[in-house]
Amino acid sequence: MMKIDIEEEILKIVKKHKGSYISGEELSRKFKVTRTAIWKHIHSLIDQGYDIETHAHLGYRFISPPDKLLSAEIKEGLNTKYIAKNIFCFNEIGSTNDFALKLAEEETEEGTLVIAERQTHGRGRMKRSWISPPYLGLWFSIILKPQISPHHSSKITFLAGLSVANAIRNETGVDAKLKWPNDVICNGRKLCGILTEIRAESDMVNSLVIGIGINVNFLKGDFPEYLKNTATSLRIETKEEVSRVKLLKVILQNIEKYYELFKEDGFGPILSKWKEHSITLNKRVKAGSEGETFEGFAIDVDDECALLIRRDNGIISRVLSGDVN
Ligand code: BTN
Repeated sequence: MMKIDIEEEILKIVKKHKGSYISGEELSRKFKVTRTAIWKHIHSLIDQGYDIETHAHLGYRFISPPDKLLSAEIKEGLNTKYIAKNIFCFNEIGSTNDFALKLAEEETEEGTLVIAERQTHGRGRMKRSWISPPYLGLWFSIILKPQISPHHSSKITFLAGLSVANAIRNETGVDAKLKWPNDVICNGRKLCGILTEIRAESDMVNSLVIGIGINVNFLKGDFPEYLKNTATSLRIETKEEVSRVKLLKVILQNIEKYYELFKEDGFGPILSKWKEHSITLNKRVKAGSEGETFEGFAIDVDDECALLIRRDNGIISRVLSGDVN
């Protein structure tokens, strides 16, 4: 067994004994390595943030996992067939989307997850940057290979937004809403942004990368000044720390569930669920698109994800990209 495999196996066994000690001797017999080797693995786990009590005579006792984005923690109890079966975890990376787009150039499995504690060059829509400090959020990308044409890729962004909002509501009770085209909002402030990018050949998507950024445990002072009035976090909304790993697992499960629904029944069911939780529809909005700004009433989203706005002169404009306020 390789070092990392033994360590993962030791962790599993120590976890199973939660509440009681397991001796170094028993572990060393099980893995056919010395007690010193076991001691080193346990200390490597403690360095990664696992709370494990060590006792000279009794051995080791598992207390709790860290809320760190470690592959073993993400995989434990994750109920998916292909989403996040293959995981790349980083302490620091430029952008998880950049890395995932590179992976997608090679033959990478569908469902591969790229996740980082911190991004140094996190990217948002419309060439904006995305603030991604360590341990405060979830910054990750998933590679999918849907059989769709590039101009239908917004459907996958909608699917991702729905997956995130639904997970947030169920896990934290926060009333997460969807703002066209792809933000998750609470009390008018942004909790999560989604950046979908594709690699396409002629009229078919080869691979698609969904990049998701969620503000989880930020306190107000953790946001830069220019975001303080427009951004929020789950911790600010619930007044409690939220487990990033638990939330991530529910999001990953939702993405697989809704992606399967999309492949079986098309976009209709996703779009109706999206509309149920939208805060953009049936409201007066100001839209900015391709240099033009106008106001009107948001009446619907069509099956290509375009927002339909009835202008004051009665004309209905179909907005495919941009921002609304
Ligand atoms: C937006 O502008 O609202 C989209 C923000 C998307 C941010 C995420 S964080 C993970 C992934 N990697 C990136 O560089 N961006 C996306």
